[in-house]
Amino acid sequence: MNERTDTVVDEVNIFALQELAARSPDAISLGLGDPDLPTPAHIVDAAIAAIDEGRTGPAPTRGLPELRHALARKLLRVNGIKADPEREILVTTGSQEALFLLVQALIEPGDEVIVPDPRYPSYDAAIHLAGGRIVLTPTDERHDFDLDPVEVEARITDRTKAILLITPSNPTAGIISPANLQRLAEIAIERDLIVIADEIYENFVYDGAEHVSIASLPGMRERTITLGGLSKAYAMTGWRVGYITAPAEFIHAVAGLKALVNIHAPTVSQWAAVAALDGPQECIAEMREIYDRRRKLVMDALTGMGLTFGQPKGAFYIWANISSTGIDATTLSYLLLRDAGVLVFPGTAFGEKWGNYMRFTLLQPEPILEEAMERMRRVLRG
Ligand SMILES: Cc1ncc(COP(=O)(O)O)c(C=O)c1O
Repeated sequence: MNERTDTVVDEVNIFALQELAARSPDAISLGLGDPDLPTPAHIVDAAIAAIDEGRTGPAPTRGLPELRHALARKLLRVNGIKADPEREILVTTGSQEALFLLVQALIEPGDEVIVPDPRYPSYDAAIHLAGGRIVLTPTDERHDFDLDPVEVEARITDRTKAILLITPSNPTAGIISPANLQRLAEIAIERDLIVIADEIYENFVYDGAEHVSIASLPGMRERTITLGGLSKAYAMTGWRVGYITAPAEFIHAVAGLKALVNIHAPTVSQWAAVAALDGPQECIAEMREIYDRRRKLVMDALTGMGLTFGQPKGAFYIWANISSTGIDATTLSYLLLRDAGVLVFPGTAFGEKWGNYMRFTLLQPEPILEEAMERMRRVLRG
């Protein structure tokens, strides 16, 4: 019940797999979580216009005022979060930087952070670097990897500083149900805890599910640090634009660290982000439909191979249980790559105890996904 871990998830394995894949010309990657779709043309055009017009100089550490205002409009429109663009928003160099900086600003040695397991491993490293401790809270396939507030509450101690919520989740593609989110908010208020809400996958939910931002619930704005980014929503990974919205005092602290690390997010990318947020939003719905079709294709294929999974209600992953193959995830990853040229990350990259799971990404066109599934079938048939 009270298991804790100070082990950093071992990412070496996935680096080795990626190197191996890079040396195989016909390898199909279902590994990294970077969208394969192009950045929409109107966003690219806005960046080119910024370059042509010489809008390439330095920006304020907190981000271009135009972008902070566009983010404030988006946060209100999409998330129901009212944020002051002058004091409560910080633009970051991808949400990866946001998570790193916010953890360094928030966590003091000995602080405990409740982290749902399996997990996005970068939080482990960031929390450990700050001297914090990770308190894992299990999620499971039977409940579609929803986060049970009872399990969270059972792990709160007098050292607990924050609860991390990633919904939709990487790697499980689960979402936190509205009822559980509501209860988690009540617990945070009752126990005076901070919530870190990583909403980078907010746009991609399926089967009628709805994304709810915990900061929009009563009493939560003042205790929630919400982070998001444009990498997933607008297929803009390489542009490196993310953001944090939180109470002004906290944004001030994070901005101090940001100035130290890289001064500000790339200016041209920030102009592109303004166009993304203020421009037509149909591109998001189009991407969601594409991912949804791929999701169904891979779900059907994996089911046909005897694999199971919690319903992937969000993001663009399938977190599949491979127990029925009789092979552990690390071995199966190597076999798939060596014998079939298909790169899939083993569950152990997302938590020590997930050797029976693998994370499949949906970031290839349908014919390539079909080919990857066919190759996998051949490997499993032996
Ligand atoms: C949960 C989560 N948070 C943050 C990130 C970082 O994304 P980026 O830095 O591209 O915004 C990722 C990337 O995959 C992620 O899965």
